[in-house]
Order: sequence, then C-alpha cells, then structure tokens
Amino acid sequence: MTELDFTDRVGRVSPSATLAISNEASALESDGVDVVDLSVGEPDFDTPENVKQAAHDALDAGETGYTPSPGIPALREAIAEKLRADGLDHSAAEVMVTPGGKQALYEVFQTLVDDGDEVALVDPAWVSYEAMAKLAGGSLARVDTTPYEFRLEGALDDLGETVSDETELLVVNSPGNPHGMVYSDAALRGVRDLAVEHDITVISDEIYQRVVYDDRELTSLGSLSGMSERTVTLNGFSKAYAMTGWRLGYFAGPEELVAEAGKVHGHSVSCATNFVQHAGVEALRNTDEAVAEMTAAFERRRDMLVAELADRGLEVPTPEGAFYLMLPVAEDDQAWCEAAIGEAHVATVPGSAFGTPGYARVSYANSTERLQEALDRLDEHGLLGAGA
Ligand SMILES: Cc1ncc(COP(=O)(O)O)c(C=O)c1O
Repeated sequence: MTELDFTDRVGRVSPSATLAISNEASALESDGVDVVDLSVGEPDFDTPENVKQAAHDALDAGETGYTPSPGIPALREAIAEKLRADGLDHSAAEVMVTPGGKQALYEVFQTLVDDGDEVALVDPAWVSYEAMAKLAGGSLARVDTTPYEFRLEGALDDLGETVSDETELLVVNSPGNPHGMVYSDAALRGVRDLAVEHDITVISDEIYQRVVYDDRELTSLGSLSGMSERTVTLNGFSKAYAMTGWRLGYFAGPEELVAEAGKVHGHSVSCATNFVQHAGVEALRNTDEAVAEMTAAFERRRDMLVAELADRGLEVPTPEGAFYLMLPVAEDDQAWCEAAIGEAHVATVPGSAFGTPGYARVSYANSTERLQEALDRLDEHGLLGAGA
C-alpha cells in the first residue's frame, strides 16, 4: 500500500480536544450510557423561530446560489450597523462574512501570520488559536492569567514581558472561553498600550459578547483610541443566537486586510451559505428578547453552579459571561477528565487543552437538573474538592 505523505503543517496540530471528548461522550451514549455532557460549547436552545422563518423565506425566494464572496450586501451592512453601535466605525466593505467564526479566524491567521511570526496568546486560551497559529507557520508566546483568577489586568506586566516588536499578532477573547471572564476597561487599555507600543495587530474575539451577566457593559477593544487600524474584531452567530450548526460568522478590520483575506476566503469557501446569510440579518435585527431570555437562563445556571460548588467547599472565580467555568481538579487534569467520563459519566474538557493544567472546563449550557446530576455524580465518585 502506498504510504501517504502528509505535510509538516498538518503534523504540527492535534485534533480538537473538545471535539475528541464530545465524540467519546457520543460513543458512550450510543452504547446506552447516560452521559451528562458538559464538554460542548453549544447553547442547548433552539434557534429563535423568526430566524428560522427568515431562512425558510429566503429558500422560498430562491436564495440558493452563490453570493458575493464577502457576503450579501444586506448582511454586511447590518453587521457594520451593529459594529457602529459598539463604537466601531466600519463600513460594509470592511466586513467579511464567513461560514462560522472559526473560518473567520483561519482566514485572518493565514493572511497575517508568516512562517516564524510570533503569535501571542492569553492563557487559558480557546483550543483553536494555537492550532491556527501553527497551521500558518507561526510560533507561540503565551502569558498565563491563572495566578490572577483569569483576570487579564493582573497579568498585564507579564503580557508586557511576553510581547515585543517581534510579535505579529495578539489574540484576546472576552468574555473568554474557557473561563467566562470579561476584560475590564483597565485590561483593554493595557492591551491597547502594548499593541501601539510594539505595533501589534490584535484579534479581538467577541463571539460571546452578548452572553454577559450582571448587566455588565462590554467595551469593544477596537473602539479604543489608537486601535481601529490594528484591531480585527471577530464575531459570529453560533453562541448568542443558538445557531452553531448554521455556520455563520464574520470579522471586521482594515479594508486592505479584508481584501487580502478575501483571497483565502474566495479560494477556500467561496462564500457563506446564501439563505443562512439572510437569516443572519434577521438574527442581528430582531432577536433582542430571545437573546435576553437565553442569557438569563445561562446566568441562573451559573449562579446555581457557583453556589453548589461553594456548598461543597469549592470556591471558584465567578464567570461573568460565556457559559463556561474552570473547575479546579487534580494536577493531572487529563486523568481526572478520563475518570469523570469513564466512571461518573460526566464529560468535561481538560484545562491543559487550553494551556492550563489542573482544571477542567465545564460548559453549563445544560439544564439545572443535569448540572445537579453531574455534581452529584462527581461527588459520589470522589472527584470534587481538594485532592480529587
Ligand atoms: C472563543 C471562540 N471563538 C470562536 C469560536 C468559533 O465559533 P463558530 O465557528 O461556531 O462561529 C468558538 C467556538 O467554540 C469559540 O469558543
């Protein structure tokens, strides 16, 4: 048999840890095991009805062909309008519509990162940033916020020591996956000062922007003075509107970046799905109530989870957004997660997949009953608390 000769590029990355765990959970489920799956980063709600109707209407209207590669004008305009409301002054020409936020990130990495270029990440960091940097040939510089309860403002001095004139790209993510923390204005200003000083382009991944708690107001990094020309703002429809399977996202940045990235986009995906883009316009314009309801449900679950953990002697930093919590577990978090799924049938993702060993990421996009069940099972198997 011929031996296939794979590229070094693809050899540099590992399969997504989150997808690997959820595959394991699905395999157990198909064997009839009742698994509480807290591994997936996916709202457990259905897409709002009016958004589905907009897709039906677009299908009925024959919106089934290719669209302009960077997106239909109506959606690019609706996105530009939304960004303006966030204080980001982008024209529709500075917006690229992509099949999911992941594809948006991939295109930006491919466009900005050359072989050997340094990409700085803030740990714990979402699993795919590292893979995308490596696929583009980049090298990594990382700063750890774990000693500061995942708060970037605590780690600004460390970030200052990590980045330099050699840094090409810095990725920030607020509210953050896997910890749910929201960057304070002081943290954002710190990022701005370093980016300006060292002439660094920053990707601001704001995909959880609308999932924030306690009536918190978010500031978009690109709205800070000095940042509009060096920020790529990344967002998508998966998390806020419960549209993971629709695959719709976007990025906005300087027009020449969008044009260059357009080559990667045009030669790989051509365009995002036509009728899905029409549904995206509806999602942006007419879902405030549905988004508020979903966010309120996530907030109740967060409150319940944090309180239950405290009752069991585990004080964890309270997440301020997204739907994740970092649970302190055994030093060997991989072994802990194996035990959690194998013995307690509770699926979580090892913190080491996000650059932070000793933790497991818990997604609370699940009902309070199932969350309670997960805690009970972990407790029964001695997997909660000190020395677990
Ligand atoms: C931080 C972060 N950014 C981007 C994405 C990409 O999401 P999607 O490709 O579904 O838009 C995810 C998905 O898990 C994420 O957690």
